[in-house]
Amino acid sequence: MLDMPTIREDLKTVYDLAPNPALAASMQAEYARMARVVSPADWAIHAPYVAAINALKKERKAAILAHNYMTPEIFHGIADVVGDSLQLAIEATRTEADVIVQCGVHFMAETSKILNPSKIVLMPDMEAGCSLADSITAKGVAQMRAKYPGAPVVSYVNTTAEVKAASDICCTSSNAVQIIRALDAETIIMTPDQYLAQNVAAQVPEKRIVWWEGSCIVHEQYTAQDIRDFRDWNPDTRIIAHPECPPEVVAEADYSGSTSGILDYVSRERPARAMLVTECSMASNISDAHPEVEFIGPCNMCPFMKKITLEKVLWSLHTMTTQIEVAPEVADKARLAVQRMIDLSAASA
Ligand code: 13P
Ligand code: SF4
Repeated sequence: MLDMPTIREDLKTVYDLAPNPALAASMQAEYARMARVVSPADWAIHAPYVAAINALKKERKAAILAHNYMTPEIFHGIADVVGDSLQLAIEATRTEADVIVQCGVHFMAETSKILNPSKIVLMPDMEAGCSLADSITAKGVAQMRAKYPGAPVVSYVNTTAEVKAASDICCTSSNAVQIIRALDAETIIMTPDQYLAQNVAAQVPEKRIVWWEGSCIVHEQYTAQDIRDFRDWNPDTRIIAHPECPPEVVAEADYSGSTSGILDYVSRERPARAMLVTECSMASNISDAHPEVEFIGPCNMCPFMKKITLEKVLWSLHTMTTQIEVAPEVADKARLAVQRMIDLSAASA
């Protein structure tokens, strides 16, 4: 566990991190992207960290890859690349930086390392895990293979390198339907998200999909009754659900898609009011680009994503810790599963 009081003291000896309204005022280009959701007082607190990180990033030839669930000051202030899990994996194969700082959760950093074995991949807080990745091991994959002999295993990218290595191909929420349709098999094993599997099964009825019983602690909290109540209280609101939600929740929604699918839908449809049934920061991060849309709660936070803060990113780049390592024999097998997914997504796009 990171010793934050000590880290804070150490950082202060090197960087001027006191709230700085004058510096904040000089960084209007960054602030304009989040002004709707970050107050001027908070921006004065964040600006010194954003300035220090952006300067250090250049010095270290580092690129920051940030998931759509990062807080707005990370997403708009310091990221070089933002996106959903698939976009981040693809960008990890393209970056020319020497160092990748993963602003997201551990499995994302592992994926970047698998795709870039010779680069340094930094994780600002190793405790940024994921309930889905924690729900299954390679032994679980072997149990599923024994139960359904001959069926290919499609594992969500929200898994450890070890599980990816034990799988035939990976998928993300943006390409799962594509991948399942493309596989030449009647029965397909999907791990570890039971709800993503059930939502895909509803769209690909010609295949028999069997699943591992993992779930996301953020999306499993929503119920169909919540959505119906919300619709009653807020008529004319467009309800948009992530496919990690239970199928009965997705059935009540107007649209379901990955986090980048959600952004595309909002950009295309420009509804007057929208409810994003997903992690809280998603709406915050797209709010300024869509002033015509009123985003109405709820705000379920992912405790793992929220472990990543500006302070920890600065510490990570300053000390070049914690560097992600994946055993080469595991990485080689896992890379095949991830690369198959990237290639197949590109081929059927
Ligand atoms: P996507 O960004 O791929 O939709 O995934 C959501 C998620 O839960 C990542 O942890
Ligand atoms: Fe994992 Fe859910 Fe958090 Fe995404 S939102 S990192 S799936 S626990």
